[in-house]
Amino acid sequence: REPYVVTSKGHTAAAINAAAKAGEWIKNRQGHVKELGSKTSAQDLVTEVDKGVEQMIRRLILTHYPDHAILGEESVLPGADALTAALEEGLKHEYLWIVDPIDGTTNFVHGFPFYCVSIALVVKGELTVGVIYDPIRDEMFVAEKGKGAYMHGIPTSVSAEADPGSSLVAMGFPPDRLFAQPANMAGLQQILPQIRGVRAGGSAALHLAYVAAGRVDGYWEVGLSPWDCAAGVLLVLESGGKVTDTQGNPYDIGTRHVVASNGRIHDFLVGSLEEAKATGYKK
Ligand code: IPD
Ligand code: CA
Ligand code: CA
Repeated sequence: REPYVVTSKGHTAAAINAAAKAGEWIKNRQGHVKELGSKTSAQDLVTEVDKGVEQMIRRLILTHYPDHAILGEESVLPGADALTAALEEGLKHEYLWIVDPIDGTTNFVHGFPFYCVSIALVVKGELTVGVIYDPIRDEMFVAEKGKGAYMHGIPTSVSAEADPGSSLVAMGFPPDRLFAQPANMAGLQQILPQIRGVRAGGSAALHLAYVAAGRVDGYWEVGLSPWDCAAGVLLVLESGGKVTDTQGNPYDIGTRHVVASNGRIHDFLVGSLEEAKATGYKK
């Protein structure tokens, strides 16, 4: 198979190279974690690998683009307020990179081989590049605004499934036990009986890449952060899919409750989540 076919130079190539190096580093450290810590709860893990890889990606990007801003998960204090402030600050810059060094840290820690590196570039507030690299399967997903999305040079495109009853849908559970988990449980309860199956693999970014590649027909999750989904959102959009919040409003960088799909089952997902909200949880 071709290596990562870099059709364009500059920003996209920088993102691909950083993701490839970071992914290799992470894969080689699976099973050898030395410092396992937690952030907001015992469900919210961080390791020295997450921190080291974020530094590595920062160095690689800043070597090429010293005046660009970087929003990296491990450099933002936990909590919605710190995130809002960091995002607001970052968006003041013309070029903002949004980095999740390991999306799927719990999987990485347990040796469950489903995690990735996610790197997005926002130019003047607009998602412009999205790169997601799965080092286990050596799959490099690349999207460029207006130029499509690719995996190893082959265009990705969303599925054609229009029948919810024949759809496979991914979702996830963030570590927030008070709001996000009950909200996602309520959504699951509403949606699962109406579709073919649900997958909750533990990596928001990879699930979005799988929507882009047509491997699942849709994905939703309440309670994401920009680094979980920025790159994946561009992949889905450039693969012909649709991304909104759970009320059906168009995605923007601050959106925390995300629905992504092939477009054809989108109204079903949004409608079901609205229904779940009305009956199952508040806010
Ligand atoms: C998490 C993963 C997980 C999702 C959580 C994210 P992390 O990211 O994407 O699948 O359910 O919402 O926080 O902490 O592994 O980078
Ligand atoms: Ca993440
Ligand atoms: Ca992470």
